[in-house]
Amino acid sequence: MEIKTKALLIPSLLLLLANCMQHCVNGQQQKVPCFFVFGDSLSDNGNNNNLRTAAKCNYNPYGVDFQEGPSGRFTNGKNLVDFLAQFLGFEKFIPPFANTSGSDILKGVNYASGAAGILSETGKRLGENIHLEQQLKNHRAIYLEIAKELGDFKKADFKKAKEYLNQCLYYVNIGSNDYINNFFLPQQYPSSRIYTLERYTNLLINKLSQNIQELHERGARKVVVAGMGLIGCTPQAISTRGTDGNCVAEFNNASFLFNNKLDAKLNALKKEYTDSELIFINSTSASLDQFGFEVPEAPCCQPGLSGLCIPDETPCNDRNAYVFWDAFHPSEAWNLLNAITNYNSTSTSAFTYPMDIEHLVDYEIKMELELTNHSTSRLSATE
Ligand SMILES: *[C@@H]1O[C@H](CO)[C@@H](O)[C@H](O)[C@H]1NC(C)=O
Ligand SMILES: *[C@@H]1O[C@H](CO)[C@@H](O)[C@H](O)[C@H]1NC(C)=O
Ligand SMILES: *[C@@H]1O[C@H](CO)[C@@H](O)[C@H](O)[C@H]1NC(C)=O
Ligand SMILES: *[C@@H]1O[C@H](CO)[C@@H](O)[C@H](O)[C@H]1NC(C)=O
Ligand SMILES: *[C@@H]1O[C@H](CO)[C@@H](O)[C@H](O)[C@H]1NC(C)=O
Repeated sequence: MEIKTKALLIPSLLLLLANCMQHCVNGQQQKVPCFFVFGDSLSDNGNNNNLRTAAKCNYNPYGVDFQEGPSGRFTNGKNLVDFLAQFLGFEKFIPPFANTSGSDILKGVNYASGAAGILSETGKRLGENIHLEQQLKNHRAIYLEIAKELGDFKKADFKKAKEYLNQCLYYVNIGSNDYINNFFLPQQYPSSRIYTLERYTNLLINKLSQNIQELHERGARKVVVAGMGLIGCTPQAISTRGTDGNCVAEFNNASFLFNNKLDAKLNALKKEYTDSELIFINSTSASLDQFGFEVPEAPCCQPGLSGLCIPDETPCNDRNAYVFWDAFHPSEAWNLLNAITNYNSTSTSAFTYPMDIEHLVDYEIKMELELTNHSTSRLSATE
């Protein structure tokens, strides 16, 4: 890949950081009433803790830099959506669906689950997970609770809930596991015998698109969809499938294919939804290369065979120098930089399309249609 050894964080990045820390974080007014998160371990903040699965990490050294210690986040500190929530002015992190007790669900919920994919069978070799369709079902339950709290349950038109949910931000980042925990494991999953990579990817994109349409039916109007990162460049991929320490081209091909098709699909959806704004984040963008981490390839903690950190082993000291925390998941430092470029991409080119999150949340959504006309029948599946 693409991330090669560089001396240190480049000066312009430090400036960007300083800038964002001033403007993006502290004491800001909340920019959207709520923030809902769908995805996998990159976004999970505890949903797998009580599931029977090997895909969980509520143990040391996970969370070594997190105020609450090991929380179920697959990194040493905050994950990307934690930073986005901060930039959006939320005082607290968005609670995991598995434990919303004591939280205000009107501010949003995080449904993401480690090892989960777009397909229900993905990742199940590791145990239970909450796949995308189930995450949407969970959102439906929250939607009904919100309707109840806003008092329009008796009328059953959910007008208030929809109007409220129109203003919120929705973030969807899922798909890697459908390759690394399904398609590229032919001994355990038949998908690569049933489908070519191309057809499999079409299947994923169509399912993902149906779920985005379902979100729209539940009122989502400001939606961020993140593409896949380079799954062939994780320490796990390189150590198990790479030759001479190089990234696994076959895996990265899947990332590019998925992202190209996702981008095209989102453009088609945008034409259909004149009342919405959807943005695409290109997580394979070359501009990520600008960051120049000192240790771009080795994991910071000591990973076991699974790629997750071995419990209670001491991690590296200089955690901000590492791209990777374990053999799959990025460090908090990387999450922060990635969150900044997602949120404010003015200084990095070709990363979020057609605008960054900062502009998305300020965008005036045309809501006349929704307010005067509750017909959602026009939202038929494309394709
Ligand atoms: C976004 O980046 C630009 C250029 O670096 C900077 O001027 C602006 O203040 C940033 N916005 C935020 C919210 O940090
Ligand atoms: C649920 O969250 C609350 C506060 O956010 C916390 O005090 C409690 O320990 C959590 N419960 C579980 C089972 O994680
Ligand atoms: C990756 O894709 C390129 C172009 O589509 C193709 O030429 C190459 O053979 C693929 N590599 C692997 C390992 O699949
Ligand atoms: C994402 O960025 C990469 C590298 O800059 C580029 O090759 C690719 O075409 C972009 N993908 C999409 C869907 O825009
Ligand atoms: C409601 O939507 C339908 C189909 O899009 C349209 O034909 C009709 O004129 C709309 N009604 C109102 C009151 O806007």
